[in-house]
Amino acid sequence: MLVKLEKLIIGFIFAFSTVSTAMAGGEAEVLHWWTSGGEAKALQVLKDDFAKKGGTWKDMPVAGGGGDAANVTLKSRIVAGDPPTASQIKGPTIQEYDEEGVVAPYHIHAVAKAENWDSLLSSQVSNHMKCDGFTKYCAAPVNIHRIDWFWANKKVLDSHGLKMPTSWDEFNAAASKLQSAGIIPFAHGGQPWQDATVFEAVLLGIGGNEFYHKAIVELDMNALSGPTMVKVFDQMRKLQGFTDKGMPGRDWNVATAMVMNGKAAFQIMGDWAKGEFSNAGLKPGVDYYCLPTPSDHGYLYNVDSFIFYGMKGKSKIDGQKALASSIMGKNFQKIFNIYKGSIPARLDVPMDEFDMCAKGSASDLKYSAMTGGLLPSFAHGMALRNAQKGAMQDVITEHFNSNMSSHEAARRLADAIQASL
Ligand code: GAL
Repeated sequence: MLVKLEKLIIGFIFAFSTVSTAMAGGEAEVLHWWTSGGEAKALQVLKDDFAKKGGTWKDMPVAGGGGDAANVTLKSRIVAGDPPTASQIKGPTIQEYDEEGVVAPYHIHAVAKAENWDSLLSSQVSNHMKCDGFTKYCAAPVNIHRIDWFWANKKVLDSHGLKMPTSWDEFNAAASKLQSAGIIPFAHGGQPWQDATVFEAVLLGIGGNEFYHKAIVELDMNALSGPTMVKVFDQMRKLQGFTDKGMPGRDWNVATAMVMNGKAAFQIMGDWAKGEFSNAGLKPGVDYYCLPTPSDHGYLYNVDSFIFYGMKGKSKIDGQKALASSIMGKNFQKIFNIYKGSIPARLDVPMDEFDMCAKGSASDLKYSAMTGGLLPSFAHGMALRNAQKGAMQDVITEHFNSNMSSHEAARRLADAIQASL
């Protein structure tokens, strides 16, 4: 009898504690665009962590690499006065939404203070996460992706006696050789955000760090229309010649698969591409190569983050707090980023379980931060507001998909930016 009663009490305590944690976790409708194999696998780590905190996740995926489609859906939800509990959003768009008044009163700031996020992040990353004149946390960072990467099929390169290129001329020579041998040199998906991704890597390499800052961050008219920009467009034209007929509209992960299966040799893409290689069980240095695209120790960064909107209702606010805490969890950042291809946003996560590409990324990031090469990716929304980003992307895509001269493209680039300001 006594044993039965004891069991009953223990059962009651157990049931009560699970119910109370579930309530503590709250609920979160999360809008995101992580739908490729590698992306979905990484996101599952967050879903599981949130569930462990008792949270109820309502998934709102909007497929489309780079998040263009997701951003359209998000905008219409916000305009309709019905924002999700949290959504993927990056860079200056975080502050743009804050200015629209949909982010206050910054429910997660208390969590950030209690967990001392200021001491866990670099000030560059933490500033991106702040609203209300950069004073309050309204977003949480999951990672740091690097944009300027070459990914290559090792067998294809080895069998043609080629090494990973360390200059753009070397790349052009290798690509021509492969093309003559009937291999697609450059796997590319013809979507504006992918064109822009390639463009900024080329610009960083050909123009250098200072030029990147002048043209992309300061939007300096001379830099935008000048002779260096003409050279950047010249290289874009060469790259166009190395693509295949299937390029228009192709998704980025389909292009990555072409490199994986040896149909193509190279891809220029952020390190979410590595998430695809890993998801397929492939290893860097064994099955594929990763190397930064040629530049003078530049590093184009892209921080994925989730923004939390102004909400009513305890369950949603609890959900935001629990999710923000999950995102900044030390172990979560390790596992998530191993799958995602990126490196942790938190500074204190040990890198020993990461692969050689991620280790290289982490040490290059430190070096570039000290030497002026750490620069925000415009193609992934870290450098510019939406109007300028869109203006730039349109010209790049138009040039890439036509026979527009490099001079004309550089002139149009400056004009488009001028008109957007
Ligand atoms: C980027 C994002 C990455 C990856 C990529 C392709 O903008 O930062 O996490 O998802 O798009 O979808």
